[in-house]
This record gives sequence, structure tokens and C-alpha cells, in this order.
Amino acid sequence: MATNIFEHIRKGHREVESLLEQLSSSYDRSTYDRLNQTLQAHMKAEEESLYPAMEGQESEMVQHAQEEHGQVRQLLQQLKQEGGAPSVLSQLAQAIQDHVQEEENEMFPRGQRMFDQMKIDELSQKFDEVDRRVVQQI
Ligand SMILES: [Fe+2]
Ligand SMILES: [Fe+2]
Repeated sequence: MATNIFEHIRKGHREVESLLEQLSSSYDRSTYDRLNQTLQAHMKAEEESLYPAMEGQESEMVQHAQEEHGQVRQLLQQLKQEGGAPSVLSQLAQAIQDHVQEEENEMFPRGQRMFDQMKIDELSQKFDEVDRRVVQQI
């Protein structure tokens, strides 16, 4: 079955957004844990598939995205430490929204032009493999 890394990542974004919505209506630790697991796996999978594949031609864009992942990881940690503080949750939601928009509106169209179907399939498999591995580790 043909897979598409961009569709795959978009699906992950929608999942993250729905978990963020649940958390902002009522914060609880098990939803936080699911968000943390989903996001850590998603970011790591991007960092081991799409990002390195684009780095040669789009180094600035990839570096910027990686810095944003760092910010998201820091806010996730802070949110847990502060027991779901609404101000931290809204900072996290904002950081994720900006990042997701940049990926979907700027990075994906460039990647889509850069890769052929075989490469897109290969990246999709790699993304999936890392995503599953990290989910199991957390
Ligand atoms: Fe990302
Ligand atoms: Fe993403």
C-alpha cells in the first residue's frame, strides 16, 4: 500500500490538536501523558525522516523547525511540573499551532516538489518505524 509521509504527519497534527483541546477543557494527567507520548514520538520521527531529507536544500527551515521542537519539549516539561497551569498550556498550544502551520503551509509544499514517489514512500516508512518505536519507549 502506498504511503505518504505528508498525510501521515498531518494526521498526527490533528491528533495532537484534539488532545490539546481536551486538555484545555479539563486538564488531567492521563491526557497529558498521551499528548506527551504522541508529540515526543511525532517530533522524533520527523527528526529522523523528513528533516534530514530536507536539510541539504532547506537548512534554515529545518533548523528553525528543530528549534521549535526544542521549545515544545521544554513547554511539555514545564506543563507537567506546573500541574497543567493554563498559562503554560496556552503557550504550548500557540507554539504547536505556529509550528504545525509552518510545516503544513511551507515545509510540505517544498518537500513535495523535492521528492519523487519512491522517496516519499521510503520517508513514510521511516517515519512510521520511529514513531512506533518511541511510543513504545515512553
Ligand atoms: Fe515538527
Ligand atoms: Fe509535525
